[in-house]
Amino acid sequence: MPVVTHKSVPIEGQKPGTSGLRKKTRVFMAPGYLENFVQAIWSGIGGAAGKTLVLGGDGRFFNDRAAQTILKMAAAEGVARVIVGQDAILSTPAASHIIRQRGADGGLILSASHNPGGPDEDFGLKYNTANGGPAPEAVTDAIWRATLEVAAYSILDAPDVDLSQPGERRLGALVVEVVDPVEAYADLMERLFDFAAIRAMFADGFRVCFDAMHAVTGPYAREILEGRLGAAPGSVINATPLPDFGGGHPDPNPVWAADLVARMMAPDAPDFGAASDGDGDRNMIVGRGIYVTPSDSLAVLAANAHLVPGYAAGLRGVARSMPTSRAVDAVAEALGIGCHATPTGWKFFGNLLDAGQVTICGEESAGTGSDHVREKDGLWAVLLWLNILAVRRQSVAEVMQAHWARFGRHYYSRHDYEAMDATAAAQLMDALKARLGNMRGAEFGGLVVATAEDFAYHDPVDGSVSRGQGVQICFDGGARVVFRLSGTGTEGATLRVYLERAEADPARLLQDPQQALAQVISAAESLAGIARHTGRHAPDVIT
Ligand code: G1P
Ligand code: ZN
Repeated sequence: MPVVTHKSVPIEGQKPGTSGLRKKTRVFMAPGYLENFVQAIWSGIGGAAGKTLVLGGDGRFFNDRAAQTILKMAAAEGVARVIVGQDAILSTPAASHIIRQRGADGGLILSASHNPGGPDEDFGLKYNTANGGPAPEAVTDAIWRATLEVAAYSILDAPDVDLSQPGERRLGALVVEVVDPVEAYADLMERLFDFAAIRAMFADGFRVCFDAMHAVTGPYAREILEGRLGAAPGSVINATPLPDFGGGHPDPNPVWAADLVARMMAPDAPDFGAASDGDGDRNMIVGRGIYVTPSDSLAVLAANAHLVPGYAAGLRGVARSMPTSRAVDAVAEALGIGCHATPTGWKFFGNLLDAGQVTICGEESAGTGSDHVREKDGLWAVLLWLNILAVRRQSVAEVMQAHWARFGRHYYSRHDYEAMDATAAAQLMDALKARLGNMRGAEFGGLVVATAEDFAYHDPVDGSVSRGQGVQICFDGGARVVFRLSGTGTEGATLRVYLERAEADPARLLQDPQQALAQVISAAESLAGIARHTGRHAPDVIT
C-alpha cells in the first residue's frame, strides 16, 4: 500500500498553552485540516516513527472518520503500534490509564469534552504524553509552531481498518491493536475501591441514578455500576453514546443536567445522583435533596479518601486550581498535608502528581481526580463517593452537614458572561490589573480588600512560571472573588467571576448560596464594573 504525500496549507492549529485543538466539526472535516494538525503532532513530539500510541475518543460525530485518518497517517509515519479502543471509543481517563498501563509513548484523544457534538457543533483532538496526561506547554507550543509550518502530510492509501472487534490488525507495517474500551479501566476501579462494600449497599436497596448524557461513560457506567456492582438495571440513564449526544450539551452541571437535578430534588428521589461529560472526565454529584458543588466534593473526597482501600495510606497532599474554593484547604490543614493552588487546567497537576507531592486534586469546573491516572476522572469520583457512603452509612446530606460542621462551609458560585466582545472583556481585565496596586484596604460593596494580585504560578517541581492566570482579590473575613477569561470558549470571550465566602457560624451553614454570596457579588460588580464595560447586567450561566 503506497504512502501518498499531499501538499497542504499551514493552519493556525492550536493556541500556545492550550492542551488540544477544539474547532467546529466542519473546520476539522475540511480537506487537509485534521491531517495538518496530526502531521504537526508528529513533528511537535519529535517524530512518531517506532512509537506506541493510544487512540480513542468520545464517539462524537466524525470520531470514526478521524480515527481512520489518524491510523493511516500513523502507518505512513512509521508508528510501530496503535492501541485503539473498539469502534475508536475511549473515555479520556481510560485513555490516560491505557497509556500508563501499556507504557505507550503517548496518545491521541478525539474529543471536545463537554461541548456539543454534530456536524455543526464541536470537535477536538489532543495529545497526551507518556505519563498519561495532557501534553505540557513545551510540547503544545512545539505542536503549535509546527501547525504554522506544515506544508505537506503523508498518509497510507489503504482501506479502513476494522475496529469493530478486539484483536490485532495490520495497516502496512503498523500494528493496530483493537481493545475493549472498558475492561482495563473497570479493573483499575476494582483495585482502588471496595466493590464488595458498594455491592452490599446496592443489595440493601440503595438507589443510584447515573446520567451518562448520551456520551462516552454510558458503557463504562453500565459495566461498572449495573454489571460489576449490581445496581438495579436502569440505574444508568442516557447510556447509549450518540454522535450528537442527543442534541444536548454533555456538561454535568445544574444547567445542562437539570433533569437529573430535578429528579434528585423530588420526594421519591434515589439516594445518589451523578453525571459525567462527553469524554468522561468531569462529574456532578447530587444527593437526595442536595446538590454538591465540585469544590465541596473535592473537600469531602480529600477528607474521607482514607476510608477507601486505594487511599488507605492517606494522602500525600492535595491540589486545587486557584479559582476552586478553599474548602479543600481547610481539610488539608486539618490533615496536616500540603495544599497547592495551580492555574486553571488539569495539566498543571501533572508535575505534582508525577513527583508524588499530591494524591487528590480538583477544579471547580466539575473535575476531580487522583494519581491513578493523569486526567480528571468522572466515574472515579462517583465510585469514591459511593465507597465513602458505603463505609460511613450516611446520606449525602448527612455527610455534607457533618463536613461543614467540622471544617466550616465555603459558599461558592461561578458567574459566566459568555460570547462577550473580546476587546471589551480584555479592557475590563486590564483596568482591573492596573488598579491592583492600590486596592489594599479599599472598600467595595462593604468588603475590605486584604490582598489583590494577578495570579502567577511557580511550579515547585520544574521551576516554570505561568503568569496572568486570573485576578484574585481576597477580602478581610474570608471572602474572595476571582476574575479570569476562559481559555476554552469558541465564540468571543467568556468572563468567569468566581465568588466565595467562608462561613463558620453553625446557625448560618444552611443558607441559600446566592443569598449567602450577595455581598461578594455586589463587591465584584463594583470592583470590575462589569455592566459598565460590557453592557451586561447579569451572568448568562450561574453554577
Ligand atoms: C474550563 C474550566 C477549567 C477546565 C477546562 C477544561 O476552562 O474552567 O477548569 O480545566 O475547561 O475542561 P476555561 O474555559 O475556564 O478556560
Ligand atoms: Zn471532558
